[in-house]
Amino acid sequence: MLAEKELLGGLTPEHFLREYWQKKPLLVRGAIPEFRGLIERAALLRMTGQEDVTSRLVRQTQNGWSLSHGPFRRRDFPPLQGGQPWTVLVQELNHHLPEADALLQRFAFLPHARLDDLMVSYAVPGGGVGPHFDSYDVFLLQGQGHRRWQISSQTDLELMPGLPLRILKHFHAEQEWVLAPGDMLYLPPSFAHHGIAEGGECMTYSIGFRAPTTQEIATQFLVYLQDRLDLPGIHADPDLKLPEHPGEIPAGMMSGLMEMIGQIRWDRQIMADFIGRYLTEPKAHVYFEPPEPVLPHDQFAGQLASSGIRLAPASRLLFHQAHFYLNGEPVDLPGQSALLTELADQRRLTPRRLKDTALDWLYDRYAEGFLVL
Ligand code: SIN
Ligand code: CO
Repeated sequence: MLAEKELLGGLTPEHFLREYWQKKPLLVRGAIPEFRGLIERAALLRMTGQEDVTSRLVRQTQNGWSLSHGPFRRRDFPPLQGGQPWTVLVQELNHHLPEADALLQRFAFLPHARLDDLMVSYAVPGGGVGPHFDSYDVFLLQGQGHRRWQISSQTDLELMPGLPLRILKHFHAEQEWVLAPGDMLYLPPSFAHHGIAEGGECMTYSIGFRAPTTQEIATQFLVYLQDRLDLPGIHADPDLKLPEHPGEIPAGMMSGLMEMIGQIRWDRQIMADFIGRYLTEPKAHVYFEPPEPVLPHDQFAGQLASSGIRLAPASRLLFHQAHFYLNGEPVDLPGQSALLTELADQRRLTPRRLKDTALDWLYDRYAEGFLVL
């Protein structure tokens, strides 16, 4: 069976999109039959000590829930056995682990523009983050160990007040399964769920999606416009009449200022430019490091010819018509749509000999850390 159909339990991606995506849950037994996870517990806990790793520790205490944010030291974690249940969640594993980036490529039947990140959770037996819902679509892929998932189509999404975590006040499980390594559960946005590590320690990989809210897009578009605004003129009133009420805003001033505001203009091209930049903008905490050492230009060309190149795991490259955007900036590389399309779709280029502007452009992005050999 094709890997995509196996991943979706025998469904074609078209069938999945039509019947399930954003509509209803799908349980897939053996979605990736050989999957046992991408990282061991010890390495994951060590990783939470890094400054550039986003992690959270959730503990179930006697009187409720506690939440703390990384970086963590080993002694910040409660005992692995015999204590109260806890779980640690690490965001953007795909930025730190090439295998995690490769796993996300299996979900390329969905647009890269919708993909957010790969999160991984480690839980001691009985650990979890409580019954909740997420605003986004998610595929929950079971790694090491087992997790009991309970889900509910309930529309009562009221949260418990006063908690550091979003926990549903009333959770009524309608279906439940124990997921084993390689099993996967897809949940559409706002579908209530509750997962508990069962029978031992457990690691779950969440392939998460993103979808901006109207408020977010509108606000960010206004910021974009503001950065580019350059309107001429200053309010003038050579015909000013003696005011009856000095405290009143003159009618002429009111309409003049309104006309100024009316000079703010945008069209579809400007909106498309904003959207390209917005969707590829790295998150605030993401930064790129140049390779160590940076190969000289001719050696780089040789490596490209022998082994190709790929986008750095945190890089985002998207396009609309012939406009390409990489990490928040438009790409200025005329006549190279085929090359850029391959890089955007596959997140890599197969080995090739290049020269002139395309080679220079790739070299500069490599030297910035946006591309890796
Ligand atoms: C987890 O892996 O513990 C939580 C994932 C989720 O519920 O979204
Ligand atoms: Co969730």
